[in-house]
Amino acid sequence: MTSDGTVQHDGGSLGGLFGGGLMPESVLSFRPDHQSEQIDWQALTPAAAWLTALLKPRRFVELGTYAGDSYCAFCQAMREQGVSCEAFAVDLWEGDEHTGAYGPEVLARLRDYHDPRYGHFSRLMRMRFDDARETFEDGSVDLLHIDGLHTYEAASHDFRSWLPKMSPRGVVILHDTTPRERGFGVYRLWDEIEREYACFNLPHSNGLGVVVLDPDAAPDGIARVARMDEAARRPLLLVLKSLGDLVIAHAKERFRAGELERLKGRYRELEWAVEDLRRGHRSELSELLHLICAEFPGLSERLASIEDRLRRVEETAAGDAAETASDAANVEQTGGG
Ligand SMILES: C[S@@+](CC[C@H](N)C(=O)[O-])C[C@H]1O[C@@H](n2cnc3c(N)ncnc32)[C@H](O)[C@@H]1O
Repeated sequence: MTSDGTVQHDGGSLGGLFGGGLMPESVLSFRPDHQSEQIDWQALTPAAAWLTALLKPRRFVELGTYAGDSYCAFCQAMREQGVSCEAFAVDLWEGDEHTGAYGPEVLARLRDYHDPRYGHFSRLMRMRFDDARETFEDGSVDLLHIDGLHTYEAASHDFRSWLPKMSPRGVVILHDTTPRERGFGVYRLWDEIEREYACFNLPHSNGLGVVVLDPDAAPDGIARVARMDEAARRPLLLVLKSLGDLVIAHAKERFRAGELERLKGRYRELEWAVEDLRRGHRSELSELLHLICAEFPGLSERLASIEDRLRRVEETAAGDAAETASDAANVEQTGGG
């Protein structure tokens, strides 16, 4: 540590990260194009761009894709960085005991988005992880993302059974290394992995564990990060977390903008409804006045009651319109602030 508090290890300062090529510009400018309503992986999408930049994988496999937030982030990073890679997403697209069951519309929506953009280098494989494994040659996968069922037994099985498929330069990443509730058990597997392999954990968004199977054979950048001590690695993890926070902030901004448009539309509908009511009551009134004057001159109480009814209807309508205008102004203010 220097006198100004800067950590001076390999990559242990922001200067070290950028100068040492550990934080390429393509990662800093990465913004995911595909964001579903599943928020879990979104803050890790800059980490997907970062891993892609450091590893330049020739074959990428994801076990557990669901709505495609993580998978599409990898595909987008590969396309933006010009990385030549075969990519495979494996899932039954039925859900499991942690995600809950879901319908065929999830895969259909993902196909609509994925196929035209990434279909030339990437495939969605609808099958069990164990069945998909047999379709890959041993030693052929450079990057494996394990994000299936998160019990200890399932995650251990996925990790250990896919190890023979990994290439010598291979890196395995595992999502959800931190949760301990609801039967999540990846953290137990992670304890074992930390004793056996060169690895590190990105702690945000429920944790993404990165396992460098053989640092001597792995690409230089990722091997250097795996060998750093925690203090040296901290600035790097902080930058990745801050980039993730930015992704989440953009997603919230988009949601608020959508809500504002919805409320503005509702306000316009109410304005039209009020105007219709006014017009209807005006003509009803003049009709009744006409009748009263013609047939029952002198029945002024009836006229007064009609006028009173009309006034109450108009007051209610004006109150509704003012309330909607105030809702819209609140959302606009929250969105702008
Ligand atoms: C946590 S979700 C994946 C989340 C995804 N990576 C994302 O970015 O949001 C887990 C998925 O794994 C699938 N899955 C779990 N076990 C599986 C198995 N043995 N074979 C195939 N799919 C499985 C489930 O259908 C579910 O869609």
